[in-house]
Amino acid sequence: MIQFSAPGKIHLLGEHCVVYGKPALISAIDLKVLVTVGTNSDENYPLLRQTINNLFLKNFKVKKIPDYEIASTMPAGSGLGFSAAGSAAIIGALFTHFKIDWDLKLINRLTFEAEKVFHGTPSGGDNTSVVFGGLILFQTGMIIPATSKINDFILINSGKPEESTKEMIAIAKSKIASILADHEALTSHLLAAMRDGDEKKLIEIFKKGQANLEKIGVVGKKAQKIINDLESLEAGAKISGAGGVKSGSGMILIYHKNPKKILQYAKDNKLEVFQIKLSEEGLKQE
Ligand code: MEV
Repeated sequence: MIQFSAPGKIHLLGEHCVVYGKPALISAIDLKVLVTVGTNSDENYPLLRQTINNLFLKNFKVKKIPDYEIASTMPAGSGLGFSAAGSAAIIGALFTHFKIDWDLKLINRLTFEAEKVFHGTPSGGDNTSVVFGGLILFQTGMIIPATSKINDFILINSGKPEESTKEMIAIAKSKIASILADHEALTSHLLAAMRDGDEKKLIEIFKKGQANLEKIGVVGKKAQKIINDLESLEAGAKISGAGGVKSGSGMILIYHKNPKKILQYAKDNKLEVFQIKLSEEGLKQE
């Protein structure tokens, strides 16, 4: 039995701007997608399967893709890079199944090809984060590894966005120029705050980053209300990823010195919550 996993990711800052060549601070997290080859195929995630199977048949001389199972500890379509993680884990498992020489750069490139099918003009940040793992500053294909003394975060689910990432990129486009410079500076300040373990600075930067994301129109009313509540509890909170406006905006990324306060808030408001850690692990065999 061949089993591979790839982690989810969070955008600490820089989402959307990264599509226009600006840096994003992205990290792999300890939620993941697991793919097992050689068991009976279940039928979940049909679009993901179909896309990767076609990509594989196109790129390699193989006749038939084996059955595989996909399991996940994170929800799909909520800003955690499910499509990238699922794609990478399937490709990794198939590389091993077909005894293709292990090449993480090639696997990353193929995962990026799949991301283009799903999202139109993605930056490549999501696939790079889940394939290589760790905390990275990503800019037009360039990766700078980063370190952080702050590794524990909370996610609250504001609901699955109705819009696709492709649609959210289109929504952000007209106003993105107004935030690019400020967001770039904030991203580099956040990198320093995380490296130094400066919690107060991180909370301030999350607030400013979130304000920029609101400005470009990617935050819905429900997420906005939750973030306002969290800020009044002295948390740093922002959407993470493409966002959404019609209904949910995906996962809200939260930092608080006392996580219990946030867990209590989620419980009182019946919101789905995850305690997560930044993770060094990328695509790997289980
Ligand atoms: C999506 O997870 C992040 C965006 O910046 C799109 C991308 O980088 O491809 C919105």
